[in-house]
Amino acid sequence: MKTFDFLVILKRESLLILILLSLAHADKEKETATAASRKGINKKFEFVNFKEDKLSFLNITALVKRVVEDSLSCAFSCLDNLACFSFNIAAFPDKAGKFVCEILSSDKYSNSENFLPSKTLHHFSIVSPCSNLPCKGDGKCVTLYQTNRYICVCNRGFRGKHCEIDTCPADFLVHGKSCYYVANSSSAATWNKSRRFCQNLGADLAVIKSKDENQFAYNLLRNTSGVSDGWIGLYRKADNKFYWLDGRPAKGHFQKWNDGEPNDYGGNEDCVHLNGGNSDGEWNDQICSYTSHVAICQWPI
Ligand SMILES: *[C@@H]1O[C@H](CO)[C@@H](O)[C@H](O)[C@H]1NC(C)=O
Ligand SMILES: *[C@@H]1O[C@H](CO)[C@@H](O)[C@H](O)[C@H]1NC(C)=O
Ligand SMILES: *[C@@H]1O[C@H](CO)[C@@H](O)[C@H](O)[C@H]1NC(C)=O
Ligand SMILES: *[C@@H]1O[C@H](CO)[C@@H](O)[C@H](O)[C@H]1NC(C)=O
Repeated sequence: MKTFDFLVILKRESLLILILLSLAHADKEKETATAASRKGINKKFEFVNFKEDKLSFLNITALVKRVVEDSLSCAFSCLDNLACFSFNIAAFPDKAGKFVCEILSSDKYSNSENFLPSKTLHHFSIVSPCSNLPCKGDGKCVTLYQTNRYICVCNRGFRGKHCEIDTCPADFLVHGKSCYYVANSSSAATWNKSRRFCQNLGADLAVIKSKDENQFAYNLLRNTSGVSDGWIGLYRKADNKFYWLDGRPAKGHFQKWNDGEPNDYGGNEDCVHLNGGNSDGEWNDQICSYTSHVAICQWPI
């Protein structure tokens, strides 16, 4: 896959503008002169190296929204605005052959939760020390553009300069920004007892927020307890809807129900488990007092 990098060298005080448009292969990214400084005012030159993420966008309020000729014009608009650190640009031209350009006041590293796939936009961000993703445990990387340095803002459960030290309970396995533990099949119990099992370890039943997390939980379940199914922190409330233990409704978030589920078979399947064995990690609603499932624990949820 090819990526476009703009290397724009801008001399502010004169009309001399030198533009290098480089075509680079994503797999052999160069450590180019990426002295990304957004201060620049007192400097003669400003180096800004933009990196493109195709069909992605940063979902934050735009500083300025413009219609431009091409992505280079959008890059110049960004450079002209010292508060700009990235931009979104329409992937396809409008009827007049122009492109919507959104100038943004922050970047994808410190707003990773708002960096999303898009069908209509491409995203360009300034190459920075955060481009190498130095922060572990899904920590946020904040670029200090003036000095070309960065700091990691660690999630709960992680510390250290790069959030490289986790503070998980013993025997828990780190994945993303949490730690996980699956009880073996000799600890199979009801949903309530399984929850207590996790709580006794300082954790709770897992609150699964993404496909990636579900796959990890499923792998761990399979590795740990063979064919057993695993209770997760999802249950039916009196309003007949499913909620996670952190209070989020299932609806509107990641879900992976097995075909035809949840079916509330018999009218009292109020607890949810992840299928173990040769499944694809799908979910099923089940009677809460069922005793052959194991606990999938997570900390913090
Ligand atoms: C972008 O963010 C807004 C509010 O922050 C939200 O309402 C909207 O759904 C988000 N868009 C996408 C595609 O997630
Ligand atoms: C299952 O886990 C318990 C601790 O929760 C441990 O004492 C026991 O030895 C384990 N059994 C097997 C078969 O691994
Ligand atoms: C599970 O525990 C909750 C309180 O923690 C209780 O209200 C509920 O009745 C229990 N469910 C079962 C099936 O024991
Ligand atoms: C499960 O076991 C496989 C094979 O040993 C290993 O590659 C994988 O990392 C394990 N995954 C988890 C989540 O334990």
